[in-house]
Amino acid sequence: MQKKIGIGIVGCGVVGGGVVELLRRHRGSIEEQADAALELRYVVVRDTNKARQVALDDTTLTADFAQVLRDPQVSIVVELMGGTDVAHSVVREALLAGKHVVTANKALLAERGEGLFALAERMGLTIAFEASVCGGIPIIRTLCEGMSGDRVRSVRGILNATTNFILSRMSEDGMDYAQALAIAQRRGLAEGTPTLDVDGHDAAQKLAILASLAFRSRVPCEAVFRQGIAELRPLDLRFARELGYVVKLLGQARLVERASETCIDARVHPVLVKRDHLLAAVRDEYNAVLVDADFVGPTAYQGRGAGAHPTASAVMADIVALARRMDTCPRAARPPCSRTIPLVAMDQIEGRYYLRLDVADRPGVLHAIAGHFGRHGVGIATVTQKKPGDAHVPLVITTHQARERDVQAALSLAKQSTLADVGDTCLLRIMDDDQDDEPTTLGAVA
Ligand code: NDP
Ligand code: HSE
Repeated sequence: MQKKIGIGIVGCGVVGGGVVELLRRHRGSIEEQADAALELRYVVVRDTNKARQVALDDTTLTADFAQVLRDPQVSIVVELMGGTDVAHSVVREALLAGKHVVTANKALLAERGEGLFALAERMGLTIAFEASVCGGIPIIRTLCEGMSGDRVRSVRGILNATTNFILSRMSEDGMDYAQALAIAQRRGLAEGTPTLDVDGHDAAQKLAILASLAFRSRVPCEAVFRQGIAELRPLDLRFARELGYVVKLLGQARLVERASETCIDARVHPVLVKRDHLLAAVRDEYNAVLVDADFVGPTAYQGRGAGAHPTASAVMADIVALARRMDTCPRAARPPCSRTIPLVAMDQIEGRYYLRLDVADRPGVLHAIAGHFGRHGVGIATVTQKKPGDAHVPLVITTHQARERDVQAALSLAKQSTLADVGDTCLLRIMDDDQDDEPTTLGAVA
């Protein structure tokens, strides 16, 4: 083994610590795969005095990133610090210094990736980012390489481990939301700012990356419709279960035809998934991605979506891949976004809906509420009134296939009903297996 490759890691928290541990534990087989000796020359952190999961000597551990930039022996910088400002400078400066970059930072790539990939291309360098989506699941390689000869029609799945953990615990053990979140944080699943997880930002960033790769068209994460799980109440999880569903936070992107133009429908929101659906069985910190393409048809990928070990595994795969072809063809890996496909507005989407309205328990209320939905052409599939006897009772409605705009309009009018005196409401979207096979054609824009 002649080649020696210097590595500088920036960030030694959950993921950085995992990468150091993995390199130490499996150095022999990693170097064999890489066909190179890997030398961990620097680990950059904010506070060198902080206690760490992995022991590091004083020459390796530093708070000075400039040391990495100056060292000609470092050819790969591994950015594992998170955030979009300092991390942007770190990646940019690393590229300008002629170093390849490996990152797990989906926020950085989804929000500021375009400029960085363009810079990498100009410099003839690679930004590798397998760990940025779904931790240990090799979904980036699957889309970029495995699916490169096909036409992807849809990509969807459970893209965030923290929210899947919270929803699993709440619905299976009746655990309280705050307690489930605290456990996810202790396990190193959550982002430093956990609202990024629970409000759906993290899943939207990942979906933007996946959709851009799948459809070869840049999907800006701010254009992805986003609804998180913070507003969900335990009773909605219970009612969903009684109806035969489990609630999952899904990221979904698919190609649709709108007025004979191909568009992308990309959204992140909680979904009622049938109890026997593949995604319903994906629990806790596990993620799953379903990719459907013209020739291969439906495919599924599942694994742990966060945590030190699964994420370190994906980071190391990128390091190995870079090391292998370091002195042959350091290909610039700009995601192939050669097209610009427009995105569909959420109010144009069609589907089935679950609605819970806390209403006054008095005669005529059901008729009044149903009337608003009827007038907007929204067909009601089931109605259940829960716990009669209280002054206010939850009224649970599921709809037939309807347009989002009509459902929202009917709900908004129902909320104004004096008779019904509507309190808290919840609107969730339902995914049915048979719906998946329906043509993805939307009506013309009104
Ligand atoms: P942590 O908060 O556990 O670790 C962050 C590390 O970065 C710390 O070691 C911290 O130093 C260091 N750091 C932060 N700011 C600076 C700075 N300005 N200069 C130098 N070092 C700095 O984060 P994670 O390991 O959980 O996440 C890292 C990245 O990986 C994020 O982009 C995240 O989204 C992504 N990711 C995380 C996954 C997970 O399961 N946790 C899974 C997939 C991706 P110090 O220790 O001194 O504070
Ligand atoms: N906070 C993220 C999650 C980490 O929970 O999925 C993995 O990207």
